[in-house]
Amino acid sequence: MKGLILSGGKGTRMRPITHTAAKQLLPVANKPILFYGIEAMKAAGISELGIIVSPETGADVESTVGHGERWDIHIEYIQQDEPLGLAHAVKTAHSFLGDEPFVMYLGDNLIKDAVAPLVERFANSKADAFILLKEVPNPSSFGVAHLNSDGRIICLEEKPAHPKSNLALVGVYLFNKNIHKAIDEIKPSKRGELEITDAIQRLVDTKHHVDSHILTSWWLDTGKKDDMLEANRVVLDEMTDVSNHGVIDSNTRISGRVHIGHGTKISGCTVRGPAVIGENCTLEHSYVGPFTSIGDGAYVSYAEIEHSILRENCRILDFHGRVEDSLIGVNVELTRSNRKPIAYRLMLGDDSKVEVV
Ligand code: G1P
Repeated sequence: MKGLILSGGKGTRMRPITHTAAKQLLPVANKPILFYGIEAMKAAGISELGIIVSPETGADVESTVGHGERWDIHIEYIQQDEPLGLAHAVKTAHSFLGDEPFVMYLGDNLIKDAVAPLVERFANSKADAFILLKEVPNPSSFGVAHLNSDGRIICLEEKPAHPKSNLALVGVYLFNKNIHKAIDEIKPSKRGELEITDAIQRLVDTKHHVDSHILTSWWLDTGKKDDMLEANRVVLDEMTDVSNHGVIDSNTRISGRVHIGHGTKISGCTVRGPAVIGENCTLEHSYVGPFTSIGDGAYVSYAEIEHSILRENCRILDFHGRVEDSLIGVNVELTRSNRKPIAYRLMLGDDSKVEVV
């Protein structure tokens, strides 16, 4: 079984952050989202992985991920010249996939459940496709499945205005070679894309066997800022690697689960976990609250930050008021002049500068 991870797209809903970075490389608990998918594949025993990239961010993805040495697997890059849909991505990857069954994983999705049991279930079944579903409050934002009372799929629709159920298609799919023919038989949707949802519907229409499973654990599609913060929250909430490799002075109070990277110095701070603080950071006289990830090389002085993602090499200096619910790009600087404290909710692209006056 091969693996296909989709890491193309323009990330328009995450601008300005995605003007300079691929959305799949944005960090959740200081690790690129994409790595979670790769690790799920590896844990499922998949050693040959194709990653679909776009011309805009392909080089960035390739240099961050490499060719699989880190995980002892083989990773190949496949460029999709235009974002013409998930089924188009599979078509683009056809020569890599050959006629083998494969797992397709959307690079901006995170699921709690392991992929390994799904691979095993699919391998031991006669199904041509296996999809994951999850009850959601906003099905119109996703592909939606309508099942009969036996759990068999009646139909699938991509982002329907009037959804027939609240079961969204999760971005993890398993297919055998029959998906390629189905893709050849579908037409672009209203948004001009070859939808994988339509290709699976085609399998259903042509009497192929499509199996499904309803997830009860969490699943996150990290398309927007609040989804990223939610992903950061759930991953930090379950973080088990809690070790302190930094230097912490006696005036610092640390409570809860906090991971601190090598070369980091913390003095006169209060840090409340769950939180992760990267390598070579300096934190002084500051408050770091729950569900915060601080990237490598950050300098935080006389500041407060909570429920936020701060990327690498940011500087928050003497910033009155609490930074909360924020996603802050690489190399951002936040400073202030004297005014009374308030709270800030920020989404700042790389290299931004904010001065509160
Ligand atoms: C895609 C699929 C959709 C699926 C979703 C899961 O949507 O088209 O069916 O429910 O991923 O994340 P997109 O992210 O392209 O809007």
